[in-house]
Amino acid sequence: MKQMLNIALPKGRLGEKVYGMFKAAGFPCPAIEEQNRKLIFENEEVGVRYFWVKPSDVAIYVERGAADIGVAGKDILLEYKPRVYELFDLDVGKCRMAVAAPKGFRDDTSRTLRVATKFSRIARDFYAGQGRDIDIIHLNGSIEIAPILGLSDVIVDIVETGTTLKENDLEVIDTIVPISARLIANTASFKFKNEAIEKILTEMNRLERLL
Ligand code: PRP
Repeated sequence: MKQMLNIALPKGRLGEKVYGMFKAAGFPCPAIEEQNRKLIFENEEVGVRYFWVKPSDVAIYVERGAADIGVAGKDILLEYKPRVYELFDLDVGKCRMAVAAPKGFRDDTSRTLRVATKFSRIARDFYAGQGRDIDIIHLNGSIEIAPILGLSDVIVDIVETGTTLKENDLEVIDTIVPISARLIANTASFKFKNEAIEKILTEMNRLERLL
C-alpha cells in the first residue's frame, strides 16, 4: 500500500485557499471539492489525505503526529508554541497582531494595564519586553467589547481589515507582529516521510515564485 501523507487543513475560507495551493502544486483531491460535510478526503494516486480541522487545532494534530503536516496561523504558533517544524510562509491569511484601545485612550503607565485577549502568551511576552505591568483578562471571542464595557483598558487581537475596530470606535495603538499562514510539520514525519514533504515544499516554493 502506498504511503499517505496526512495533511491538516484549517476549516474555513483560509483552508479553501490553502487547498487551492496544494492543488496547484500537484496534490489535488477531487473529493474535497464536492459539496458535502465530510471531514476526511484522500487521493491515493498522489498519496495525500486531507482533513478539515478547527484552525486553532491544526498544530495539535501536527504536534502529536495525527497529521504529518498542516497549515496554521503564526498567531497560533506564537501563542501555543507547539513542538513542530515551521517550514514555509504561505503568504496568505495575512493580518497582524495588535494592541487596540478606545479612540483617544491615554496610557497611565503608573497603573497596571488591563489587557483583554484570546492570546494571553503573546500579550504577556509583548508587555514583558516593555517592562510594563499588566493584568491579563483571557476571553474567548468578541474581544472588542471588553474596553467598551470597561472590562479592560486595551485589547490584544488580530486585525485584518480594521473594520471590526472601526465599527466599535477602537484604534490600533501598537502593532505586535505580522501574521500569515505557515506550513508546519510533525518532527518525526519530517524525518520519516521526508521525501514526500520535501516534494510538497519544492512545489509550493515554485508556485510562490510564479505568483
Ligand atoms: C478576528 C479578530 C477580529 C476580526 C478582525 O475575529 O478577533 O474580531 O477578526 O478582522 P477585521 O480587522 O477584518 O475586522 P475572527 O473572525 O477570527 O473570530 P473571533 O471572533 O473568534 O476572534
